[in-house]
Amino acid sequence: MREQHAVIAGRARFLLRAQQQTPPESDPLLRRNIHRLEKGLLMRPRKVPFALEYIAETVACFLRQQRANEPASDEIRWAADILQQYFAVCAAASKQVAQLALQFEAGWQQPGGQKVPYRYDGLPSLQMHYDDFLLLCQRRRSVRWYLPNPVPKDLLEQAVAAAAQAPSACNRQPFRFLYTLDPTKAAEVAALAVGTAGFAGQLPALMVVVGDLSQFAENRDRHLIYIDAALASMQLMLALDRLGLASCPINWPDIEQNETKMETLLKLEAWERPVMLIATGYADPAGGIAYSQKKSVAQLLVEI
Ligand SMILES: Cc1cc2nc3c(=O)[nH]c(=O)nc-3n(C[C@H](O)[C@H](O)[C@H](O)COP(=O)(O)O)c2cc1C
Repeated sequence: MREQHAVIAGRARFLLRAQQQTPPESDPLLRRNIHRLEKGLLMRPRKVPFALEYIAETVACFLRQQRANEPASDEIRWAADILQQYFAVCAAASKQVAQLALQFEAGWQQPGGQKVPYRYDGLPSLQMHYDDFLLLCQRRRSVRWYLPNPVPKDLLEQAVAAAAQAPSACNRQPFRFLYTLDPTKAAEVAALAVGTAGFAGQLPALMVVVGDLSQFAENRDRHLIYIDAALASMQLMLALDRLGLASCPINWPDIEQNETKMETLLKLEAWERPVMLIATGYADPAGGIAYSQKKSVAQLLVEI
């Protein structure tokens, strides 16, 4: 019931967002539709015109967001660049699109053009071999014993910058990393998760990965907060290793009482749900690490 309530609150928030005076900086509808336009531009063969069923909604959403975000955010600049490219391709093929192009141009005259689709061979090269990557994956282990040294905030920022590169459904990134660098607060929050008995009291830093159900208009997308947040969390934990920090993911079980306490403690919105916790800090070199035998490739990789 709690999950259902959060899903409905999220959908209501999604729909109401379009009517607000001052929309938040990031808009899931804009992100999703711009993502769809990028896919259309990349399509082989490209269909022209395309996106007729949602381009008017996208331009309206863009203009609303653009007015509310001065100076323009990276999200707005990306949207503008993609819309510009879309109109360059499709305006001549449809009167409706040509009219929308005029509306768009009346609302946006800034230079840009960088945040557009690019070729695979335009990706930066990387001198990291598979063996190095496998070693990184082997090094990332759940660490539960830490030194009392404080964790610099900029390391968390760097880790989150890596997490932000993770894939997410329609590029909506429906999550936030709430954090504390205060061991007392970390202990208080970690104690709400039942799997931390015995080690919650010595965590130098803690993150609560929170999913945002207001990023979705449909019930069918309700699991994406868990999927997208987990993918980003994995990148975060790998990055923490390279920043010299250890980590431990912590389960957030669905227990009524603890959910309520967490909601109050973190001032969560009705449409937000904790996905998991991640403890982090400088590992105690003498602290033990569970062997945690992994399953074999043969067990995990099965032909369909
Ligand atoms: C979603 C999730 C929840 C977890 N919850 C806990 C937990 O509550 N307490 C704990 O000590 N470890 C927790 N872990 C860590 C696992 O026990 C650990 O990942 C697993 O045993 C494999 O060990 P490794 O992480 O060192 O490879 C969790 C891991 C994940 C991914």
